[in-house]
Parts: sequence; C-alpha cells; structure tokens
Amino acid sequence: MKRTHTCGALRPEDEGSRVVLEGWVHRHRDLGGLVFLDLRDRYGMTQVVFEPEREELIAQAHKLHAEYVVRVTGQVRRRPDSMVNPNMDTGGVEVEALELELINKAAVLPFTISDPDSANDELRLTYRYMDLRRPEQARFLKVRHRMTRSIRASLEERDFMEIETPILMKSTPEGARDYLVPSREYPGRFYALPQSPQTYKQILMLAGFDRYYQIVKCFRDEDLRSDRQPEFTQVDLEMSFADEEDVFEACEALMARLFRDVRDEELSLPLPRMTWNEAMDRYGSDKPDLRFGMEIVDLCETAKGSGFKVFDSALEAGGVVRGIALPGQADSFSRKKQDKIQDYVRHLGGKGVVIVRWLEDGISSPIEKVTGKDFLERLAAGLGAGPGDVLFLAAAPRREVCKVLGNLRLKLAGEYDLIDRKRSELLWVTDFPMFEEDGDGGLVAAHHPFTQPDPKGLAEKVPPAELLSRGYDLVMDGVELGSGSVRIHDEEMQQQVFDLLGIAPEEARAKFGFLLEAFRYGAPPHAGFAFGFDRLVMLFTGTENIRDVIAFPKTTTAASLMDGAPGDVDDNQLEELGLMRRKKLDSSDH
Ligand code: AMO
Repeated sequence: MKRTHTCGALRPEDEGSRVVLEGWVHRHRDLGGLVFLDLRDRYGMTQVVFEPEREELIAQAHKLHAEYVVRVTGQVRRRPDSMVNPNMDTGGVEVEALELELINKAAVLPFTISDPDSANDELRLTYRYMDLRRPEQARFLKVRHRMTRSIRASLEERDFMEIETPILMKSTPEGARDYLVPSREYPGRFYALPQSPQTYKQILMLAGFDRYYQIVKCFRDEDLRSDRQPEFTQVDLEMSFADEEDVFEACEALMARLFRDVRDEELSLPLPRMTWNEAMDRYGSDKPDLRFGMEIVDLCETAKGSGFKVFDSALEAGGVVRGIALPGQADSFSRKKQDKIQDYVRHLGGKGVVIVRWLEDGISSPIEKVTGKDFLERLAAGLGAGPGDVLFLAAAPRREVCKVLGNLRLKLAGEYDLIDRKRSELLWVTDFPMFEEDGDGGLVAAHHPFTQPDPKGLAEKVPPAELLSRGYDLVMDGVELGSGSVRIHDEEMQQQVFDLLGIAPEEARAKFGFLLEAFRYGAPPHAGFAFGFDRLVMLFTGTENIRDVIAFPKTTTAASLMDGAPGDVDDNQLEELGLMRRKKLDSSDH
C-alpha cells in the first residue's frame, strides 16, 4: 500500500482515520516500553507512537535507527492538550502505529541530521543529499521554487516568451574568465560556457521575439565569495521597442509579485531611483544600503582654509573633504577602537580618517589644536551631528573618499547594529559610467560593450572617463540584484564604442562579428536586464551564504565535494580532443 498522506498533512480533524505514512526516521526515542518516531519527508514531520502492548510491533520499532526509510500504517489520534506541539504543523496529532515496514536501512551516518552542528561545511557538502534532508536546509530550495513560479507567472502575464539559448557557445563579453570546453570535431578549438546569454538575447530581439526571458545558468571562472558561485542562475530578459522605462516597469512588477507571493507583503511602486553619481556621493557605493542613515556629507565649503594641512592640500589638489557621523558612541569610542578604524581605512587603501568625538565636556579630536574647536563644531553642524556622536572625516581624491567612507559606513552600521533588518529597501541606480579604467591606462566597458552610451555625452565628445551610459542596476538592501542597459542598435555607435575601448575592427569582427552582422539587417531598439537569481533567493530567505540557496553548490575553490568535480579524465579522451597534459595530476589535487 502506498502512502495516504504526507508527513506534513495530518491535523486534529483527521482523528480516527487509518493512514499510511512513508518517510525517514528523523528522531527515534526509545523509552523502553514506548517508542516514539518523528517521521520526516519533504512536507514535514509526524510523530508516530508504538504502544507497549503491541509486542511484536514494538520489538520491530526498537530496531529502527535514524534515517531508516519506513512505511507506517496507523491510526490518527489527537494529542492531549498538554502534549500539543505548537512548533509543528502536525503538532496536534500523533499516529498510533499498527503496522511497520522497513523499506531500507541507513548506514552509520557521517553526521546527525537533526543536529547540523555535528558536521562542518565540508562534510555537509560531501553528503549534500543528507544535508538537504534537514528541514532548515530544504526550506531554501522550497522558497527558491516558489520564487521561480512567481517570476514565471509575472513574465508570462506580460507576454514574455521563454527561449533557451546555447550552453556551448563563443566567448561572451561580460568580462570574467571563461570556462572553456574543448571541441573534438575541431581539435585546438574551444567552446566557451556562457557568462550570460547577452549576445543571444540581443539576437533574439533582431529575430523579432520582442519579449524574451529565460531562467538560465551562467558560468564565470572568477574568485568566489559568499555571494558568488562559478555557476549561478540569472533571470534574464530583453525587450524590443523598449527603453529603460519599460524594463523598469517589467522588473518592478516582477518584484512586487514576488513580495506578494512569497512574503505576503506589498512593495510600494514605483521604486526610487538614484543616479550612480548621487549614490557614490551620498553612500560611497553603487549599491547603497538604504536601511539606515549615516549618509556621507560633503564638507568642502566648511573645510576650506582650516589651516589643517591634510584638508587644505586635498582641496588644493582638486579632492574633497567629506564625513559621516556615528550616533551616540562618543564615550565608548576608545583609543583602541580608533586605531582599529585607522587600520581598516589603510587596508582599504586610504591614508586615514580624522576622528572627532563630541564628548560631554565638548568636542575633541587630535586636530583641534590646529583647527580650533569652533571649526570642528562647524563640521559637526554640517554633518547634522550633536553631543555623543563620533565624526569620521576623510580628505582625498573623490574616488578614495567615497570608497573609504562608503565602506566605513557599512562596517560601523554592522558593528553598532544600526541596520533595520526587518525592512527591505530597493532602488534603481542609473546613469552608470560607460567605461572603467583597466589598470593599464586603457578602458574597459563598465557593463558590457553593447550598452548604449549617453547619446548627448557621446555627441558632445565628453572625455571617455566621464561618459555616462544608459546602464542601470537594481539594488536591494545593499546587494546588487541585477543589472541591465539600453543597448546599442546602431552600427555606427557600436563602432564608436569599440574605438573608445581600443577594440580594432578586426578584433570586434573576430569576437562579435555575428552580432555586428546581424545589426545590419534591421535592428529594433532594445533594452534588457538580468537578475542574479541566487542573490534574490538569498535576500528572500535571509541567508548570507549563496551555497544555501543552490541545490548542489561548489566550494569557494570551485570544487564539487559530492561528486568530485573537477575530476581526472582518461588519456584517450584527451587524445581525441587533441589535448595534452602539461602537468601530471598529483593525488593531493583531489
Ligand atoms: P551582470 O554581469 O551584471 O549582467 O550579471 C547580472 C547579475 O548576476 C549576478 N551575478 C552573480 N551571481 C552569483 N555568482 C556570480 N558569480 C555572479 N555574477 C553575477 C549579479 C548580477 O547583478 N548580461 C548582463 C545583463 C544585461 O545587461 O541584461 C549581465 O550578465 O546579481
């Protein structure tokens, strides 16, 4: 007989029913005369009781262990009021076992599933299937699934068509390192795994599919962090005859639906917008966390002529003086804490910050002898600070000041628990710079080279370093959720951008010739966006580790501990591909 209910289904109203449950033994409590099981499946847990008078049955139950797979036939009974477990959906009932069938035993477990602390991360990843049996771990994938459904529904409603694009392709322009796949048919040639479907989705626009989406795997061989995996998922979309307003509208509707479907909350629309420049000036970041204040304030006017060399020379050199204020910590901000802040600032590449404390007996800072207290009070007033607050002032080129104060703001907010984690703050950051310096005196596309530059800036030939783009990011709670842009659909403008990037026509043709060619045969204006789906799920589930939201994640060194990827291959496989090993694999590589 198959199961009649899942382990999460039974309620007090089912009292008296004869039921069949199947699942894993989550917890097994043997009280001598009486045996209790918590039987678990994807849907929940149900308590099963073996009564002492059923001797044969209880003898069988004594032999069970954690993670055995069993089938129990029994009768539902209400638990007495004092035994009701309000923390379990099925906590009002238990099943009195009438029959027990052992379907499968489990070997000695590498860790206790009901006690996650009994395993380190490595063990949990090696036995991922067991880790995923834990309800807390399974929850992440359940929420992920609900989110996928909600996203599909929102996009389908708006006429987006889901179209799959190739995994074996030519290198994409996203700027990370590619994963390469050798070709057997063309020895010495390689496919690249997509860093994103960027070129294909633009080609789909040229092919006339004016609203495309795909929930798609992307691959980037880059250094991993807690919010980065080598293969991750994007909710990728593109729209023709559309500009940023249409993309914002579609993405906002998608987010609002997610908030409604998954969190049962109303997201207030339209989302606020901020230009990249404003975000950098006020928050020192292109992904500002708006869940707390401590905004950066420009103090250049007030700081002029202070007689303090660091300020004066920064201003003379065209730099800025800016500050942030930490509320209420002046008394506790000891010398030791101040030294730690200076170390942190130096670690960021800054020279240091001036720390000013507004103590009970007045304002105090190492620079007061040079500048006088009045000056410091004027700076404090500029920052809207008052008694009890600590000011952090940085004087340097704008870029450095933004970096230092932006990071310091986040660090202090974290340490002093200033972030309101109960609320979510979303915003669009718009008007990104078109280019970034590549470190070797050249330029790279800040987003990708198909992003449209600000047409006015391009026409006016503003210096490339100051040229803005029609690129935008969606930011939630200080995390870059996704990015997109209005694309170039004009051959001439594309050529201008390649020229500014120093990409010669032959190189452009070799890399993206198929796309450039396609643009010649009728290209509609188009724009698009890609959400980092894993990051979205992280935010919705509240985890800080991207591995939690991926069924089979990689470690920070891009290995899959469960199946041992990347693994060795046979010599004849290499031979077929025309490849040779330069280095013999060492057994310690595994
Ligand atoms: P971009 O490169 O900004 O844009 O990627 C879009 C979003 O994908 C997420 N993301 C990642 N998530 C996890 N692990 C990674 N290694 C990783 N890398 C990126 C981020 C990011 O915002 N084709 C363009 C989009 C477009 O222009 O339409 C693109 O891929 O959340």
